Amino acid sequence: KFINDDSVSQECENLISSLHSEKDSTGKTLYNYQGSWYYPNTVQAILNFQKHFRARDNDIILASFPKSGTTWLKALTFAVVHRNKYATNLVSHPLLSDNPHNLVRFLEADLYVNNQRPDLEELPSPRLFATHMPFQTLHDSLRDSPCKVVYVCRDIKDVLVSRWHFISKLVKKELNCNYPLEETFEKFIKGAYSFGPFQDQVLSYFKESLVNSNPVLFMRYEEMIEKPEAQVMRLADFLGCSFTEEEKQSGTVEKILELCSLGNLSNLEVNKMGTSTCGIAHQAFFRKGGVGDWKNHLTDDMARKLDEMVKKKLEGSGLKF
Ligand code: A3P
Repeated sequence: KFINDDSVSQECENLISSLHSEKDSTGKTLYNYQGSWYYPNTVQAILNFQKHFRARDNDIILASFPKSGTTWLKALTFAVVHRNKYATNLVSHPLLSDNPHNLVRFLEADLYVNNQRPDLEELPSPRLFATHMPFQTLHDSLRDSPCKVVYVCRDIKDVLVSRWHFISKLVKKELNCNYPLEETFEKFIKGAYSFGPFQDQVLSYFKESLVNSNPVLFMRYEEMIEKPEAQVMRLADFLGCSFTEEEKQSGTVEKILELCSLGNLSNLEVNKMGTSTCGIAHQAFFRKGGVGDWKNHLTDDMARKLDEMVKKKLEGSGLKF
């Protein structure tokens, strides 16, 4: 076995040996599968997903590039979809005692990871799942189903800074050394980093949101920050569970926003202490939030290079940042 990892099957090894590869800064190898870069363990998880997952018509898939607002989208979608079950009893709402990543689990980064083949048939409808895969990698498993996909994207510069903070914490804890911002920047420019390139993924979902073979709602973190009520109502409309006039009048939208706010979630005991099913401390998912923190970390030259790279990729698509 050339990959020292028992969670990777022979089939996956054979595939991987045919893929384009790159070393990351720690010497681990990333492989390019269907246009995106992954570690072997994730390639295996994706193969399992592609082989075994079959979408149900009323499934909801939340998709994002890491650090684009996934945690927030998971919390909001869970709260919106299950509001009749839990809204009247905010004291025992699952979001108060569990982390959004445990309530809406990642397909490739959690459920199918470590060569697992979870039985998802028993889960009640509507099933909520999340993914960081690009649309083309999801596509075959969704093809026979009109299930809905919600994609959230965020400015690449804030995504980069958020990712750098996130990885820095992990590196500091595990290796007790610093992780330079320049390294994250270089990776973003080169494109070979886990789940990258960012701009290719964004474009894959944006294009799909226009053609509509599967309904894709394209959301933006910045718009959610600016007009949270309008964006949550848009989300509910898309999911087929619009807020009624009575709900709007009685403040249900505001209650959901407050429940899912960064301030509320990050102060809960479960999110200060716990670890998610994908093995990451809950608190790592909450930091500052908001728009424009990149200005505190990136030089003008770095910002310009990132913007130009994204602009070039999105040219002619109708999507602008
Ligand atoms: P910052 O690092 O810029 O603060 P993801 O959930 O995709 O991993 O993204 C994490 C980013 O979303 C972090 O951004 C985090 O602080 C922010 N975030 C997490 N929960 C949030 C919430 N409830 N509302 C708004 N932003 C949130």
